[in-house]
Amino acid sequence: DLSATIGNETFQHPLINAAGVWDETATEMNAVLESAAGGLTTKSATLAPRAGNPQPRYFDTDLGSINSMGLPNQGLAYYLDFIANTDTDKPIDLSVTGTKMADQIDALKQIQASDFAGLCELNLSCPNVVGKPQIGYDLEATKEILDRVFAFYTKPLGVKLPPYLDLQQYDAMAEILNQYPLTYINAINSVGNGLVVDPEAERVVIKPKGGFGGIGGKYIKPVALANVRAFRQRLRPEIKIIGTGGVTTGTDVFELILCGADIVELGTVVMQEGLDAFARINQELTDLMAAKGYQKLADFRSHLQEY
Ligand code: DHB
Repeated sequence: DLSATIGNETFQHPLINAAGVWDETATEMNAVLESAAGGLTTKSATLAPRAGNPQPRYFDTDLGSINSMGLPNQGLAYYLDFIANTDTDKPIDLSVTGTKMADQIDALKQIQASDFAGLCELNLSCPNVVGKPQIGYDLEATKEILDRVFAFYTKPLGVKLPPYLDLQQYDAMAEILNQYPLTYINAINSVGNGLVVDPEAERVVIKPKGGFGGIGGKYIKPVALANVRAFRQRLRPEIKIIGTGGVTTGTDVFELILCGADIVELGTVVMQEGLDAFARINQELTDLMAAKGYQKLADFRSHLQEY
């Protein structure tokens, strides 16, 4: 039994796609739902459709990826419409964002007014919109947006957070997050504004923002593990955690759940390997649990021991 629950949703398998991966169009989203994924996250939607940043804007390396997509998406109405017209037993998590706080509030007002009653994820951490800092790195802005959102929003809501690197940041963020009726947090988004260099060409590898972009893949697993662990130690136990960052194997999933993750998202590995990654990693997790004698995720979730 690999099932896990977040809010009112039960995931039969703990692996779903990370927002922005295989989830911009109906064709892609249907493919995720037809794969071995336990559910679907949609591409972070803005009120209006966006073309995103100039190409090339995604690049694979041996250890992961760099991207500066710039929130290409079909607009919120498209994703609400897709969900309303999709018959599936798998949970769908609607990711939403905006390049201004007012737009994020308006988007959540539309979702509140819609028939959609599933999980919604407010992305506070897109690193790639030119001139826009990540809300998740600004404590005052985070507090302001959550105050404004929870003044009207009554459906299950999570927030996608950027990676934090200092213990004091976890203390300060957790103190804020604990004040709101959040259903979950998702840690982490890509490690923002890294740089990959092509030494032969002596240039950067993606076009937007002078080559700076969000880093995913193996590079970031220790950062993801630390963020999941640190928030699990600080958040109210009712606030669930989606663990995201650097997973390529079933063992990586096991480690994130040991740190406190309820379910786990796959990003770069799906970009590099395709949707077959879900079945492979599910099987690796199943085999590892069997070898260790664990029957369900709760048998080891958050059980990480200190040295
Ligand atoms: C986008 C890219 C990311 O890496 C991310 O974490 C969020 C959004 C984007 O540019 O669309």
